[in-house]
Amino acid sequence: MKYQIQIIDLPALHAPIKLELDAAIQKVMYHQQFISGPEVGLFEKELGVYLNASVLGVGNGTDALEIALLTLGIGLGDEVLVPSFSYFASVEVINKVGATPVFVDVDETFTICVSDLQQKITPKCKCIIAVHLYGMPANMGAIMEFVKVQNLKVIEDTAQAIGASCLVQGKWQMVGTIGDLGTISFFPSKNLGAFGDGGAIVSKKSNLLERAKMLAQHGQSSKYVHEIIGSNSRLDTLQAAILSAKLPYLDQWNSRRVEIAKMYTDGLVANKLISIGAVPNYATHVYHQFTIVVEGNRDQYMQELQSMGIPVRLYYPKSIHQQKMFSHLNPVLPNSERIQSQMLSLPIHPTMTNEEVSYVIESVNRVVV
Ligand SMILES: Cc1ncc(COP(=O)(O)O)c(C=O)c1O
Repeated sequence: MKYQIQIIDLPALHAPIKLELDAAIQKVMYHQQFISGPEVGLFEKELGVYLNASVLGVGNGTDALEIALLTLGIGLGDEVLVPSFSYFASVEVINKVGATPVFVDVDETFTICVSDLQQKITPKCKCIIAVHLYGMPANMGAIMEFVKVQNLKVIEDTAQAIGASCLVQGKWQMVGTIGDLGTISFFPSKNLGAFGDGGAIVSKKSNLLERAKMLAQHGQSSKYVHEIIGSNSRLDTLQAAILSAKLPYLDQWNSRRVEIAKMYTDGLVANKLISIGAVPNYATHVYHQFTIVVEGNRDQYMQELQSMGIPVRLYYPKSIHQQKMFSHLNPVLPNSERIQSQMLSLPIHPTMTNEEVSYVIESVNRVVV
């Protein structure tokens, strides 16, 4: 085996900025305001400048989605359009608030298919959760046109896509800030990862974020004045301090992901058994994952690549409509079902070397024949 490639290498990512990370942690250790310390507001401001939107830190990306639905008044009796080909959290929150998912297929970009959205809409649909899967923006231009006509709310699940952008009405905009609310995850392996759980809700509509903040902080409008039933979902001070130290590097890390993705695309495009996700010219991709669709025995390819020191993963082997709690719904989702059984995610992280990337390309072309 020429290399043992890591699926993610956080020690290598963090080593060059160790002094900044140490200083950020030390500062919090010094004042010890572990909850709602000054670093939280500071990070919310910095991320707000980066995204050109308002930001509310919350406990994780799943809470962010649930609070976003509650903020928009989605609940019992409502239906929410959502892609089935995503991480489970994108859908479980819909049931958590008492609403029902309406599963939509994905297109050749692996994100929600706008023509299927038009087919699947019902009179009870109040909202769309558009997932920017793998770092690839959903077609927000077309989605925003659709929701205008249909009078739907839009939540952008941006857990995997911080830093990506989408062309909407002739203007490039950061994903997460285009619909009513965007949600972000700072799970450690994400493009901007904390040292534990963390999340954010973002929006250009600051009144919506005020309501989201109330919901995330026990329904309080001010200390001990509880207007509504909420929950406890805050971004820790320590996580905010770490995220502030990492945010200035996000674009550089994302650019390296794009470089690696270009090497993969150039190196694999000639292989007739491999399809690569489309990146239309309305979007910039930040490659949280690089996923290919293969013809042939996917599971055997996977085993062979693992044995060659290449950690490939299945994001995700089962579409959400096939999980047991949704198995009674039987939606028609041919692309989701095809992709789930033929997809392979290759390692991609900013500290991979060109030699490692070339080794992955060589190995995939040797195995997928
Ligand atoms: C698409 C998507 N949505 C939501 C989440 C949930 O984020 P968290 O793990 O921070 O709760 C994730 C996390 O992996 C995700 O990938």
